[in-house]
Amino acid sequence: MCGIVGYVGTRTALPMLIDGLKRLEYRGYDSSGIAVLRGGELKVQKKVGKVSELERTAPPDRYDGAVGIGHTRWATHGEPSDVNAHPHVSHDGTVALIHNGIIENYRSIRAKLEKLGYVFVSATDTEALVHLVQEMKKVTGDLETAVRLALRQVDGTYGVAVVSSQEPDRIIVARKGSPLIIGVGEGEHFAASDAAAIVPYTRHVVYLEDGEMAVLTKDRFETKTIDNVDIVKQVHQVTFDIGEIEKGGYDHFMLKEIMEQPETLRNAMRGRVLAAEGTAKLSGLRDVMLLLESAQRMIITACGTSWHAGLVGEYMLEQYAKVPVEVEYASEFRYRNPIVRPTDLLFLISQSGETADTLAALREAKTKGASVLGICNVVGSTIARESQGGVYIHAGPEIGVASTKAFTSQLVVLSLITLLVSRQRGTMTAEQGRIVSEEMLALPEKAEAILRNADAVRAIAQEFKDTSNFLYLGRGYNFPVALEGALKLKEISYIHAEGYPAAEMKHGPIALIDENMPVVVIATKDSTYDKVISNIQEVKARKGRVIAIANETDHLKDLADHIILVPQTADMLSPILNVIPLQLLAYHIAVLRGCNVDQPRNLAKSVTVE
Ligand code: G6P
Repeated sequence: MCGIVGYVGTRTALPMLIDGLKRLEYRGYDSSGIAVLRGGELKVQKKVGKVSELERTAPPDRYDGAVGIGHTRWATHGEPSDVNAHPHVSHDGTVALIHNGIIENYRSIRAKLEKLGYVFVSATDTEALVHLVQEMKKVTGDLETAVRLALRQVDGTYGVAVVSSQEPDRIIVARKGSPLIIGVGEGEHFAASDAAAIVPYTRHVVYLEDGEMAVLTKDRFETKTIDNVDIVKQVHQVTFDIGEIEKGGYDHFMLKEIMEQPETLRNAMRGRVLAAEGTAKLSGLRDVMLLLESAQRMIITACGTSWHAGLVGEYMLEQYAKVPVEVEYASEFRYRNPIVRPTDLLFLISQSGETADTLAALREAKTKGASVLGICNVVGSTIARESQGGVYIHAGPEIGVASTKAFTSQLVVLSLITLLVSRQRGTMTAEQGRIVSEEMLALPEKAEAILRNADAVRAIAQEFKDTSNFLYLGRGYNFPVALEGALKLKEISYIHAEGYPAAEMKHGPIALIDENMPVVVIATKDSTYDKVISNIQEVKARKGRVIAIANETDHLKDLADHIILVPQTADMLSPILNVIPLQLLAYHIAVLRGCNVDQPRNLAKSVTVE
């Protein structure tokens, strides 16, 4: 949510800032801006709309300095507009600042500064901070101390980058609650909210922690706490490949990410399935094995699609590990004073590893003495670093705002955890473990088979692209898949869609069914199959139009209007396959409706505000 990029070195900053912003655009895309220092002068350009708009209006000859910062925004305070876009500039025109997060006490800061004669031009919380930095400069003279003093007066969250025409050789960055990394190059340094922005230029990165700041010049970077204590930080290597953050011939990142799933499923399992022994090996959980065996309760918290993965995890763990599991939205968990005991184990699922509510839930549980484990995609992300152990899903960068490959990889990891914990606890036999392992290893090929049939899904999308409502039904393991299918559709096509447990339909949603209502039913052969067939009968009796996801046509051919066939697998693994046609259906409907699939309106990939 909001992207930050900064450069200090000897090259012209602008192309790298624009390139970095384009790579960060998935974090926020309602407006963007840059500030470049050129011959001791601060040059600022901001534009509502896409980064390409900014690029068009920022000619390289006018913005050709070797120090600069750039920002892509997801509006919180103040509508998307040129004036509300970042950077914000201090009253005296000497300081420019970009910010990710929310300054909660900006009103009181603003009121004080207005009394001192500062004139505010935007509706943002951020502008209060930049004027405050100017005010603090009067006290201290230097930019670094001014930023430090200003940040000490701030409540809320921030990742910030600040430059000043009076100290044109440096960028000051700081973090509390919003990610910020430093890129270390030769004779140059970078700042970014996400490694994707700078990976073409350097793979050496330093992760700032909350309460830390840094001064970047071309030759060095100094890291300190906000309280001015020097700290030595480790330099990490970013391993992902540049090709992974490009479209690779596909029209959209989302389609690329859907099509990548056979490979990402393999990557999530690689070296982790011990098929002969019927169990899994997860090195990130080695130190917490005792806890996994003894935990009296497991809690899974997450947001969005990751929360849906958590629901499937609950079904798996309760069925096989025989341990009580609760799944909760992170945003609810953190504020409702939950009962958390030291004998509880908390799993945080987060693709980005930066979602503010999930991170806050982690901290809340830690304070209450529970052990916390992360299931993340982004290596080195805050949730991954603050967890006591965990498992990376290794799906590679996910750029499309609607999560696809991360979801199926999260499910693979939850299956691996289920295998490991159940075998360790003795609640799953070796034979059962072997069957699940074999089925897991067969998933990539089965996913390939589904993707080969993608054109059939496109034909169905064509028929339903103009409908205004959709209902998704599933039972058992596939109830969360119904939720996820509906979420995908509403996120990117703006069609109203609801997911329901199929049997709940008769308690309300059935009232909506008529000949105009498409009902997607997950009707694969599992223990609830016969019941789902009855639910389909109920829909048909009211003339609903049924799209069934099924393993075979037998009972369905006279009932469903459309059948999308998927290969059969173990019940607990079926969501991994069944969700793929639903991703494709949402994708094709959105494309046919002319929607911006990768950057749907109002959404952001990484939600780092509450
Ligand atoms: C945003 C994204 C969703 C994602 C959710 C949780 O809303 O648009 O796709 O599922 O955040 O994100 P996380 O990174 O924590 O999985």
